[in-house]
Amino acid sequence: MPNPSTAGAPTARFLALEGVDGSGKSTQAQLLADWYRAHGMDVMLTREPGGTALGERLRAIVLDPAITCADRAELMLMLAARAQHVAACIRPALAAGQVVITDRFSLSSLAYQGYGRGLPLEEIRAADAVATGGLRPDLTLVIDVPLETALERLGAARDRIEGEGAAFLRRVIAGYHALAHSDATIRLVDGRPAAAAIHRAITAGLSCPAPANPAEGEP
Ligand code: TYD
Repeated sequence: MPNPSTAGAPTARFLALEGVDGSGKSTQAQLLADWYRAHGMDVMLTREPGGTALGERLRAIVLDPAITCADRAELMLMLAARAQHVAACIRPALAAGQVVITDRFSLSSLAYQGYGRGLPLEEIRAADAVATGGLRPDLTLVIDVPLETALERLGAARDRIEGEGAAFLRRVIAGYHALAHSDATIRLVDGRPAAAAIHRAITAGLSCPAPANPAEGEP
């Protein structure tokens, strides 16, 4: 049941938060989960690579700076984690009526393995569809920050992919821009303001069922 105040806005049940490393997307994923919960929704907040026992093991491997990983192997590990995530977590949660918010999903593969590594986008899309069985988020929010901001927030301790350097992350950011412009279900969100302001900008465009207890209001 949509919130009458935002009637007409799409009611997203499956949302993905995206952005370059250091964009602040994980903070926004958490705030968004809190917002849906305050509106009485049952929320599953999850992440990729990860979200399942298999996915978390694969995450540890694929982000380990001590492990060499070819670009196509990297893609396949991300997709294996996604396949398990979709089958074991996301589809069951959606079927149970939960709102699902995932910190990264298919767009990360296109931005990082496509624009970042240079693998063909069409090959990634085809392989990703095998992993997801065609499941796509209702809405993908890309938290957009300039490279300098991302590098500042990342600091010195970096995993294997974060450690690829500025030129790589610049291609990832450009990739997110290009991808957002080609798909109406992807929204670019200015990630430069304070976290609370970004959160307000995100929720202003969202429809959500009425709060379970209206007296609680929004967080
Ligand atoms: P992230 O969860 O953002 O890391 P952190 O814990 O440091 O916030 O993401 C892990 C890394 O995995 C990130 O550098 C992006 C990368 N990644 C891909 O390259 N392709 C993918 O398909 C996914 C899901 C993640």
